[in-house]
Amino acid sequence: MQRGLAERLICLHDEIKGDASLEALSRIAVALYDDTSDMLKTFIHSTDGDVPFEHLLARMSDLPNLQQLAWTGARRTINDLTATSEGQEFATRLVESGYRSSYTVPIQHKGTFYGFLFFNSPEVNFFSPSNLNRLRPYAELISLSVMRELDTVRMMHAAVKVIRSVSSARDEETGSHLARMARYARMIAEKLAPKYGLTDEFVEFVFQFAPLHDVGKVAVPDSILLKPGRLTDEEFVVMRSHVEKGVDIVDLMVRDFGLKSMPHFDLLRNIVAFHHEALDGTGYPYGRSGDQIPIEARIAAVADVFDALTSVRPYKRAWTNEAALALLSEQSGIKFDADSVAALVENQAAIAEIQAQFGETLYD
Ligand code: C2E
Ligand code: SIN
Ligand code: SIN
Ligand code: FE
Ligand code: FE
Repeated sequence: MQRGLAERLICLHDEIKGDASLEALSRIAVALYDDTSDMLKTFIHSTDGDVPFEHLLARMSDLPNLQQLAWTGARRTINDLTATSEGQEFATRLVESGYRSSYTVPIQHKGTFYGFLFFNSPEVNFFSPSNLNRLRPYAELISLSVMRELDTVRMMHAAVKVIRSVSSARDEETGSHLARMARYARMIAEKLAPKYGLTDEFVEFVFQFAPLHDVGKVAVPDSILLKPGRLTDEEFVVMRSHVEKGVDIVDLMVRDFGLKSMPHFDLLRNIVAFHHEALDGTGYPYGRSGDQIPIEARIAAVADVFDALTSVRPYKRAWTNEAALALLSEQSGIKFDADSVAALVENQAAIAEIQAQFGETLYD
């Protein structure tokens, strides 16, 4: 598998520190901006010292200083964090972690704002004009890598949107449903992160790719897909083929777009391939069990079923959250990943928030 962005950042960081005057650059971090929710989230980092921020989500409107940089594109140098940290939560945390200066670069191109690049040093006044000159090409390179990676993912999403739009109106798989599904998956991944050692980068790509899990449904005839009633056994055989069709589509897209080198391609493929597998081996199409099912697919499965149950489908009405969680809990550790189910059960307020933000679910 292609190395992820975080690994490449760590290599680059080593290279930067090879320059004697930049040796005290002890932290490089990237936070991404999600415009649908106006949230800034930790993404990748490389540090010799403490990790001040991880698995962190913050509303941009609560960070007026950074918001200002995002709007103007200006870079910010703070040469003594202790002097400015008064009452500033993030600066305070940086100081507590041993950092004394910071340099912040908005990542943006042609009117699109992607996020921020943060540099920190334990030395006061580290970001002198001459050091900033030395850092500039590296900042450029990191920004370009981040944008390239995110653009690749956006291209995949755009391609899937086109495929969906020419296949047939799939109301229940558009817009708010996909948005919710992505957020349930992210929430679960976030909760599982400490136990499974999932990085922010991994969590981000679970968020990006989980809503593509059913891409293979475009290859299923509408007469089956949109059938108002229960499927016959024969129809179910066709329906189940959406998994292998999805894997074919992902492989084709990656081949034809020359995206072989897309990092996290495995993560996307695993989600598409294994989202209907069950822990006890009774799932389809491969009948994998337990740990043979990658964690990203176990997470996506729980997010998918929860969203499917609480949504209207041509063949069913929406269940209440309680009923959906009851079904997942019954099968927890049997069909569904127990940690993923627990993450939903223990965070019903967050579920309600996601549902409130992304579309109305009509209960019967
Ligand atoms: P989907 O609607 O996205 O549902 C995803 C999964 O959520 C289902 O996978 C199933 O595990 C769960 N699920 C959804 N609704 C229910 C429900 O009412 N009861 C229970 N116990 N589980 C539910 P599954 O069963 O493999 O189905 C895959 C896809 O096949 C579904 O995706 C849907 O597009 C289609 N499908 C399944 N059953 C029917 C049906 O009776 N009629 C029609 N027209 N389509 C169906
Ligand atoms: C970060 O460094 O990851 C964000 C904190 C900030 O500088 O506001
Ligand atoms: C695949 O990845 O398409 C094969 C599935 C498996 O090995 O179980
Ligand atoms: Fe599916
Ligand atoms: Fe689904």
